[in-house]
Amino acid sequence: MTAINPVTDLSRDGDIAIVTLNSPPVNALSAAVRDGLKGAFDAAIQDPAVKAIVLICEGKTFIAGADISEFGKPPKGASLFDVEDTIESAPKPVIAAIHGTALGGGLEVALCAHYRIAVPSAKCGLPEVNIGILPGAGGTQRLPRIVGVEEALAMVTSGKHVGAKQCLASGLIDELAPEGDLRAAALAFARKIVREARPLRKVRDLNEKVEAARGHPEIFAEFRKANARKFRGFMAPEHNIRAIEAAVNLPFNDGLKEERRLFMELFSGPQAPAQRYVFFAERQVWKLPDVPDDTPQIPVKKVGIIGAGTMGGGIAMNFANAGIPVTIVEVKDEALKRGLSVIRKNYDNTAAKGRLSAADVERRMGLITGALELEKLADCDLIIEAVFERMDIKKDVFARLDRIAKDGAVLASNTSYLNIDEIAGATRRPQSVIGMHFFSPANVMRLLEVVRGEKTSKPVIATAMGIARKIGKIGVLVGVCPGFVGNRMLSQRQREAQKLVMEGAMPWDVDRVLYDFGFPMGPFAMSDLAGLDIGWVKENSRSETIRDCLCEMDRRGQKTGAGYYDYDEKRNRRPSPVTEKIITEFRTKAGVTPRKIDDAEILERCIFPMINEGAKILEEGKAIRASDIDVVWINGYGWPVYRGGPMYYGDFVGLDKVLSRMRSWQASMGDAFKPAALLERLVAESKGFKDLK
Ligand code: 3HC
Ligand code: NAI
Repeated sequence: MTAINPVTDLSRDGDIAIVTLNSPPVNALSAAVRDGLKGAFDAAIQDPAVKAIVLICEGKTFIAGADISEFGKPPKGASLFDVEDTIESAPKPVIAAIHGTALGGGLEVALCAHYRIAVPSAKCGLPEVNIGILPGAGGTQRLPRIVGVEEALAMVTSGKHVGAKQCLASGLIDELAPEGDLRAAALAFARKIVREARPLRKVRDLNEKVEAARGHPEIFAEFRKANARKFRGFMAPEHNIRAIEAAVNLPFNDGLKEERRLFMELFSGPQAPAQRYVFFAERQVWKLPDVPDDTPQIPVKKVGIIGAGTMGGGIAMNFANAGIPVTIVEVKDEALKRGLSVIRKNYDNTAAKGRLSAADVERRMGLITGALELEKLADCDLIIEAVFERMDIKKDVFARLDRIAKDGAVLASNTSYLNIDEIAGATRRPQSVIGMHFFSPANVMRLLEVVRGEKTSKPVIATAMGIARKIGKIGVLVGVCPGFVGNRMLSQRQREAQKLVMEGAMPWDVDRVLYDFGFPMGPFAMSDLAGLDIGWVKENSRSETIRDCLCEMDRRGQKTGAGYYDYDEKRNRRPSPVTEKIITEFRTKAGVTPRKIDDAEILERCIFPMINEGAKILEEGKAIRASDIDVVWINGYGWPVYRGGPMYYGDFVGLDKVLSRMRSWQASMGDAFKPAALLERLVAESKGFKDLK
């Protein structure tokens, strides 16, 4: 065995050379890995005793892509193209042996090998689109030559990881190896190739599948049309499509040049850095400065949920999906039955779309038990309360839980706004109480705000974060304050949206601006969807707000066919003359002369106060990092990923601009706009949120 460099070894097994990479955590193509590969392949090619070369990786995965942390830094070491050329033009067969994931540049390297073998659990993919770029090392030109244009389009625009068996069917890999025995199988495969004198198959020369699509522009037109909604606002999917078009219409080398041009366009644009930032931000959230990774977690084998309403049902599904038994407690049998039937309907809908088998539906339903007595939760390891949003009810529930739950059980509340410390105060074990704030629909939305109370113990925090990961959520640890991180910032936007309407904008103007910014919908369309009557009480309604008036007219949102908007039978919305009349009357009553408000003002008034609030959240220590706030907004509120999150966006537009707007609004409209001290300080020091440690 020869060490080519600290991350690459070259060894021999008879006449087969083995190039082994070992660069934790994911064997990304750093400068050292590229240099190692180049050196090892050059040596193996020059060694006359070597008949074939196997490329294999140590650790949990094959090469998972380019080293993203090197992006934007001056290039060092061998270029990836050099490495690929060396491999592809090797005069002896090269076999890539894949386990874990062959992703991005990793799959591109494997595509330069002449043959590929993988264990059944391995996956292949070109996920570059998720970080705002495209496969820039030949992936868009080689992939369609093997898997065909349709599958290549699907892979590069979704970034999906395709399992080895499917890869075998599409030709992306040539052989399956027994699980856990990749090295021996790869050696045997290499010997077979040598013995049978199989050709040095270069993917670049396989033209049949791309030629079949030539002269059929409708393939691309239909693909664009079918995915228009999903791709809206993103630059990378369209660039990926164009690169595949180039593979179809141009000779290989010209296609490579076009791929490079498109890659550079994305790379130097605004979206790729934002999406890269989000990639790392979503991995940072798990790192808790004072709760080390080795903090003991409480094993969660059984979960209790209190309340089978909108949230309780969705929360229960998460656990059933992860194979963890759940008991849901309700007050009345009718509410329980309704809750359980909604869960079943959700599963049945998924099954009807072919995404779940009938047996899976039954298995999951079988893990969910309904009950009417809190006592049934006595043996649960984690209990999540999702009853009405009222402090008196929550305290009563927690006081009773305190008497019932076993020692050491985690007692969580799904409250959206209420004080976790006050809830914890209803028990004699505040160290066991924590907020687990799911987002609606709870079985779909990825975000989980984990709210740490003043006395919450570290094992309880570690357990809540651990369970978040287990059920496929992205957990963000936050502190106690009204609305925590997400809803606290949302309140700023909601307030300004309402005020803008009083000043002269219409709800659909505000919605359009935020939709164009990249949100899935604006605040008024959102209210219509959620129901205008959340928190509205008919008996107390005195036509004091626009919403009161709408609800009093039974315009309670989509469910009643009208809200801020009018809806047709297909739930398409259109601006409503009724709403417009109510708004005009309100303005007249308040003595407001409406003014024309331009789109830029709408955007800044909705977004800048959120950024300012985010700064206050940071200075109060209610979020660990600015990037955690961005993760909350991206995964909980549909903030467009390609704009990095509100705090990233603040840095992007310039905090001096945000501050100057806040100051001028404070002067004209009062202290709701008071700039955060942190914002003042960062601007004074010419710094951004990105500079905070
Ligand atoms: N570059 C640098 N660091 C990377 C990385 C990469 N490509 N992929 C993962 N990492 C780091 C993560 O930041 C994390 O670091 P941390 O422990 O310090 O937080 C560590 O590796 C482990 O990552 P995960 O927590 O994500 O581990 P998982 O086991 O959950 O997932 C994975 C592994 C599926 C490989 C996942 O990390 C992943 O999807 N990585 C990104 C893959 C990717 O996007 N590849 C394409 C890169 S771009 C490219 O190749 C361009 C080319 O076309 C030229
Ligand atoms: P919901 O009204 O749909 O459901 C609440 C359920 O709790 C009802 O079925 C009710 O019968 C039951 N319940 C009330 N008291 C109970 C008790 N003592 N024991 C057992 N069951 C009891 O309410 P929803 O929307 O599910 O909200 C629940 C909690 O989740 C609230 O704290 C809310 O703020 C929070 N939340 C709601 C979100 C939403 O979008 N709806 C999002 C995130 C959090």
